[in-house]
Amino acid sequence: MEARGQWGSRSSFVLAAIGSAIGLGNIWRFPYICANNGGGAFLVAFLVALITAGIPILIMELSTGHKFQKAASGSLGSISKKYEWLGWAIVGIGFVITTYYAAVMSWSFKYLWDAFTLAWGENTKDFFFNDTLGISSGPFDFGGMKTPLIIGLVLTWVSIVACIWKGPETVGKVVYATVAIPWIILVVLVIRGVTLEGAHAGLNYYLTPDFSKLMNPKVWLAAYTQVFFSLSIGFSIMFAYGSYLPRKTHMVSDAYIVAISDSLTAIMGGFAVFGALGYLSGQTGTPVTELNTAGPGLAFVVYPTIINELPMLNKLFGVLFFFMLLTLGIDSAFSLVEGVTSAVKDKFGWSHRRTNLTVAVFGFFCGFLFISGAGLYWLDIIDYFMNFFGLAIACLIECYVIGWVYSTVKLKEHINSLPGMKIGGIWEIMIKLVAPIILVVLLGWEIIARINAPYENYPRLAEGLGALVMFVLIPLAGFMFAKAKSKNE
Ligand code: PHE
Repeated sequence: MEARGQWGSRSSFVLAAIGSAIGLGNIWRFPYICANNGGGAFLVAFLVALITAGIPILIMELSTGHKFQKAASGSLGSISKKYEWLGWAIVGIGFVITTYYAAVMSWSFKYLWDAFTLAWGENTKDFFFNDTLGISSGPFDFGGMKTPLIIGLVLTWVSIVACIWKGPETVGKVVYATVAIPWIILVVLVIRGVTLEGAHAGLNYYLTPDFSKLMNPKVWLAAYTQVFFSLSIGFSIMFAYGSYLPRKTHMVSDAYIVAISDSLTAIMGGFAVFGALGYLSGQTGTPVTELNTAGPGLAFVVYPTIINELPMLNKLFGVLFFFMLLTLGIDSAFSLVEGVTSAVKDKFGWSHRRTNLTVAVFGFFCGFLFISGAGLYWLDIIDYFMNFFGLAIACLIECYVIGWVYSTVKLKEHINSLPGMKIGGIWEIMIKLVAPIILVVLLGWEIIARINAPYENYPRLAEGLGALVMFVLIPLAGFMFAKAKSKNE
């Protein structure tokens, strides 16, 4: 077996964790989830979710990986063999998310190419839905696959595999570039976004909380799961990254650094998007709340609009923006893959390369669904099930297995034996009580809502397939992997 890799330095780890956390989730997912869930009200819920669940769970995952020196499945399996399958189910959710995450990156590759000529023209909406995706009439009308997206998907997977080819040592180096470059570009775009004519209408919507919206449990579930998605928790990855840390490490302060940089980036990205939405609303005379851009296509419609409106160097900024999106996405994408591969390696003792290639090839083919004409619909449906149910359930399971079965007291002892910041009883209360109770209530609510009406009015059958993946296929795969013979047996 190969030796378990280790980070070259503290900064490599912090940057890799930030790189994983900051990704398309901040610039692509956060804005549309926020726009669909009450704008300013969502921001309030997001911050509450960060404090009551996001940060405590991040600390829990990193330290559990560190303690057991294993990814999610191995860590939960070490606590009790009976829970190993749940760990694998968590790995499965990560895998499914990777497949559509890669599809969004393939759109970004295509847009990077288009940016050289500003090929999207004035009607950025039509360009995205029709020219780029070739969107079909509904989830069961698959249409064809556009060649540029296939090329994009190939490029995405090749870059992912290249970045993790040598494990944490390469990752530690790549992330210096993939964290710094996007940030600089983002700052410029935010400044332009908020200075567009009419931006204030969008910004008002973004920053003024309508507290009545907070009465809707859906907004809260959206906020909790966005925090999980964005911090990369409820996957296997933070366990794996924690397991690569040296014995003595500043776990708690590093977790704070990661969480704060990630949230600030999302909130900042929101300024650019909502500024531009305000501008669009002024141009079209449609109120911000009624702009029909909500959904996973939002960023790909809105950012090209901002780029068109720049006073000069539009092409340059277009290229920079999509390059930024790719550099933002790549370190998240490879960390997603890493979460899966580290679990497989721990269990079966496969070589690093063999594991990466197998996962990549399999992931690549699964991605075809998301770049077909019906891709956007499926992306929306699967993303909904993976996040609203998958991540919420994953975090719930972790709080139970680690918090109750293993015990927060023991984990706290481990964490507090490390140098730097310590944690106290509040952390234990969040893990054992606050986060799980909130998640159970929100999940229950969402299940009832789904029984009453399908998600976003998709056909029941499409929704059923999403539910099938989440509630049948993933747990089943979890069982099979847990039962499979490990390298030590
Ligand atoms: N946090 C990443 C983002 O915001 C997505 C991600 C989730 C990456 C889970 C890795 C693991 O884009």
